[in-house]
Amino acid sequence: MDKEKIILTGDRPTGRLHIGHYVGSLRRRVELQNSGLYNKIYVFIADAQALTDNMDTPEKVRQNVIEVALDYLACGLDPAKSTLFIQSQIPELCELTFYYMDLVTVSRLQRNPTVKTEIQMRNFEASIPVGFFTYPISQAADITAFKATTVPVGEDQEPMLEQAREIVRRFNHIYGETLVEPEILLPDNAACLRLPGTDGKAKMSKSLGNCIYLSDDADTVAQKIKTMYTDPNHLRVQDPGQVEGNPVFTYLDAFCRPEHFGRYLPDYPNLDELKAHYRRGGLGDVKVKKFLTAIMQETLEPIRTRRKEFEQDIPAVYDMLKAGCEKAREAAAATLDDVRRAMKINYFDDAELIAEQARKFKGE
Ligand code: TRP
Repeated sequence: MDKEKIILTGDRPTGRLHIGHYVGSLRRRVELQNSGLYNKIYVFIADAQALTDNMDTPEKVRQNVIEVALDYLACGLDPAKSTLFIQSQIPELCELTFYYMDLVTVSRLQRNPTVKTEIQMRNFEASIPVGFFTYPISQAADITAFKATTVPVGEDQEPMLEQAREIVRRFNHIYGETLVEPEILLPDNAACLRLPGTDGKAKMSKSLGNCIYLSDDADTVAQKIKTMYTDPNHLRVQDPGQVEGNPVFTYLDAFCRPEHFGRYLPDYPNLDELKAHYRRGGLGDVKVKKFLTAIMQETLEPIRTRRKEFEQDIPAVYDMLKAGCEKAREAAAATLDDVRRAMKINYFDDAELIAEQARKFKGE
């Protein structure tokens, strides 16, 4: 078994990517890409998975493939270092999914907490599409086709990784050591695990309309922060305020670095002191929000600028994706060769098998 360190991760193209994606995984991916610690990095756009619950809006999925690709490039994913590709263009993933389906029971899928919540959210209770129900299996195929060792994702993907590991163990147990067991790599900062929406709701999500998108212009970002939910009991500046569950402070936890104080809020030495003042009373929301706005603009400006540049040459972005798909397909095909051999469905490249059967039928 090779000891290569291989990263694989991806996103469903159901909308532009937002700052929750950024702190939850995008920022980390770029760091990992540039760390030089990994032999291969695959980042893909999970269009086939997006279709499992958007089967009637294919145009939406198609439009968002390019949006997500632009967000990737804007954040600093570099096609020279990372292979960027589109899931549906790798037919080996379907093939692998089909074989993995033999290794997973219906009751195991029914216990998957992510699928359970999504069934509720999508009103699939009465009539869940088979493709949606089985997407954890297809996600295991995404991961294992590339022999990924490391999957940097948000904590909501934990059940998917567990399912993938189970499939790997079962496959290797039955068919012999073939697949690699992947590890999840979670964000290291609690605020980044699940960034709340600007309305204070637990999750930033397009359907809730509480997102700050990576591609929002500076005015939109400023406006969204201005109207952000804070502590509803912090009415006057002198009132004591609450930091816990206050998304303005959660965003600061996720984005603020020590040097931001020197640049934008020199009256305070660090975030702890700022929080302490807010808790005591005497610190207004406007001041905190202004600070957050400055930090967000500093963070997002280079991303917006790079996105604009890539937007000028969309055909080149498609060419880049196409090259990525070809490279990814080669890797997946190599795994499929191993899988077919292990599962004894490699009839034509097994000279030994043919010779042996020839002898058998001749009665030798
Ligand atoms: N389910 C992931 C999401 O909703 C996207 C995804 C599909 C993925 N296949 C994957 C992530 C494989 C990591 C590895 O964001």
